[in-house]
Amino acid sequence: MPTAAIKPRPTTEDDITLEVLRRFESTEDPRLKHIMQSLVKHIHAFLKEVQLQESEWWKGIEFLTRTGHMCNERRQEFILLSDTLGVSMLTDLISNRKPAGSTESTVFGPFHRADAPERKYGDSIVGADRHGIITYMSGRVTDLHGNPIPGAELDVWQAAADGLYDVQDPSLNEMNMRGKFRADKDGRYLVKTTRPVAYQIPADGPVGEMLRATNRHAWRPAHVHFAVSAPGYSPVTTHVFDSVDKYLDEDAVFGVKNSLIAEFKQHLTRDEAARKFGAEPPFCTCEFDFVLAPAQ
Ligand code: BEZ
Ligand code: FE
Repeated sequence: MPTAAIKPRPTTEDDITLEVLRRFESTEDPRLKHIMQSLVKHIHAFLKEVQLQESEWWKGIEFLTRTGHMCNERRQEFILLSDTLGVSMLTDLISNRKPAGSTESTVFGPFHRADAPERKYGDSIVGADRHGIITYMSGRVTDLHGNPIPGAELDVWQAAADGLYDVQDPSLNEMNMRGKFRADKDGRYLVKTTRPVAYQIPADGPVGEMLRATNRHAWRPAHVHFAVSAPGYSPVTTHVFDSVDKYLDEDAVFGVKNSLIAEFKQHLTRDEAARKFGAEPPFCTCEFDFVLAPAQ
């Protein structure tokens, strides 16, 4: 009987890595090839570094399966996982290298809704059912030279005074704390909202388990989300953070940048701002300008 020719096969830990890399060699798209081969190299190096055991591999598979099952139209557990591992912020830092002077970006987060209602200059995003401290956020949208960008869109979203987004709380008005605003002819915008509060990211799923198992907390410092865009300019997705928040140095998703911290000024009397906005004290004001870089 003829004996089968004995071919060399990958048998050692290093052989397996080289063989997997070889299988991706004929990928036509060079970017995809680079990403897949690099992913394999780093995952294999990670397995070797931690000497991963089969029981831990099963635990990881089970964790990722539950993460997927947790996702639906209103919940994105994979984004939350990416955020809490710093992957979202690192991607943001790598892919949004903007010219000096333009507004910095930060994490997108899982709570944006594409279908927020159009609102007029100075409109309120606060549903009638919530009682935070009324806050007027205003400023300008300009280019890098300080020229106004009339008509720039500001898509705003925020957690309510109880720390929940509308998608987390079915008792809230639809589209509570959301709206798409436009800068006026001088590039000015005005949003009536409530003072943002620190809140905990959803911790009732696999990501929450990971945070507890590693002795981490789930708090984010108080912030308002803005996605600012205009034709011919590079859009920016960012937050404005409250300068007195105690979690600024401890954000669960690593989103704080110094240039995004602003003062939310309290007004306790019928001062000039009260007259300007027609506001009853106590209320807050916050001024923040957005600077867009030209589209690349
Ligand atoms: C947010 O700010 O809405 C957010 C960002 C990352 C994870 C969870 C929430
Ligand atoms: Fe948020």
